[in-house]
Amino acid sequence: MLELRLNKLMNDEILKGYEDQVKKINEMINNKTGAGNDYIGWADWPVNYDKEELERIKKDAQYVRDNFDILVVCGIGGSYLGARSALEALNGLKSDDKLEIIFMGQTFSPNYVAQVMNYLKDKNFAINVISKSGTTTETSISFRLLKELLEKKVGKEKARKAIFATTDKEKGALKTLATQEGYVTYVLPGNIGGRYSVFTAVGTFPLACAGVDVDALIRGAQKARAEFKDAPLKDNKCYQYAVMRDYMYRHNKPIEMYVTYEPQMSQISEWLKQLFGESEGKEHKGLYPGSATFSTDLHSLGQYIQEGSPLLFETIINIKEPKQDIVIPHDDEDLDGLNYLEGKNLAFVNQKAFEGTLKAHEDGGVPCNVIYLDKLDEERLGYLFYFFMRACAMSAYMLDINPFNQPGVEVYKKNMFHLLGKKGY
Ligand code: PA5
Repeated sequence: MLELRLNKLMNDEILKGYEDQVKKINEMINNKTGAGNDYIGWADWPVNYDKEELERIKKDAQYVRDNFDILVVCGIGGSYLGARSALEALNGLKSDDKLEIIFMGQTFSPNYVAQVMNYLKDKNFAINVISKSGTTTETSISFRLLKELLEKKVGKEKARKAIFATTDKEKGALKTLATQEGYVTYVLPGNIGGRYSVFTAVGTFPLACAGVDVDALIRGAQKARAEFKDAPLKDNKCYQYAVMRDYMYRHNKPIEMYVTYEPQMSQISEWLKQLFGESEGKEHKGLYPGSATFSTDLHSLGQYIQEGSPLLFETIINIKEPKQDIVIPHDDEDLDGLNYLEGKNLAFVNQKAFEGTLKAHEDGGVPCNVIYLDKLDEERLGYLFYFFMRACAMSAYMLDINPFNQPGVEVYKKNMFHLLGKKGY
């Protein structure tokens, strides 16, 4: 389903040197014996997922599609990036689907929040509030505002039927509120952390509302799990990718740049940055995950990548077949000099830009890895998400890091709460 071409510094001998370590760590993942193992529920979730809940989600999603014009998805970090990235990657940046999806709860920006609130005030909208802890301030403030707007607009009773909450099964402020108000709720299982939650209701409810085939998404994850969970390193692309990352880290390449040639994949890069950054960046270790969208960013970052400090390597996601394409027309005057491209489509030009850039960067000494997908659909995306999640766990364990906590994130929160005058801070 996916083809992996590792950069030219990697070879069979290097991979062989990692075989024992990878085997041991894989056993840790499968047997749930590594650090943070109480959060490794995601590894088997593609087969263990709550089937009854998914059926309910699909039904409720149809109800949302039939009864509302907009769904506001209110969450942040792992409670938001999976759905947003999948939605953009699959439906594009100018989707003409009948249900509009808007994201809120991921910022304190008064400009953004006020604009969205203003946009919603005369619209027929539903809300999916997503928070495992139920105490994330960005999400809580946005939800308070959205709830008030909706209740004022349609009344408390109708609002109740338009609010869907995804949270912990039994604890947390959102769980209490949802139970008290009688909202429909979905569960983010206790043994799955936010950034590993895209196949749970966190991802599947908003995606099903957007008309995405969530069964196919999970099918893709199942395929990836089956392929990667027992295969030895020599046949395991997921772990070969993790080994390459470790090798780069230990050979003065501390920055991994995720590259796509599709603006609608840029949120996938954001999801990747969170997954790897929050999982690995601890104890003063870990690769720094960056991203770029080419060819756009070749006109900004391209110079640095080609000739700047030699710190980075690239992981390019190349999608061979776009969903849509467009042909470059003939022009009698040819004043722009483009007739040499007439009759060619943009996918061809984009592909040549990729090939030319790859050669330029490799010739310039930048290690480039390429992940090839023949196209992007739900199944392939599910496969890709799982590929990266499993590679991330392997990568973090190679650094002797717990991939599933994020202790550093708490530091800013404590300072902010103190400054905001929250009790106890
Ligand atoms: O990956 C994570 O665990 C985090 O990014 C969380 O998803 C994020 O902080 C939101 O947390 P919560 O779902 O508790 O609101």
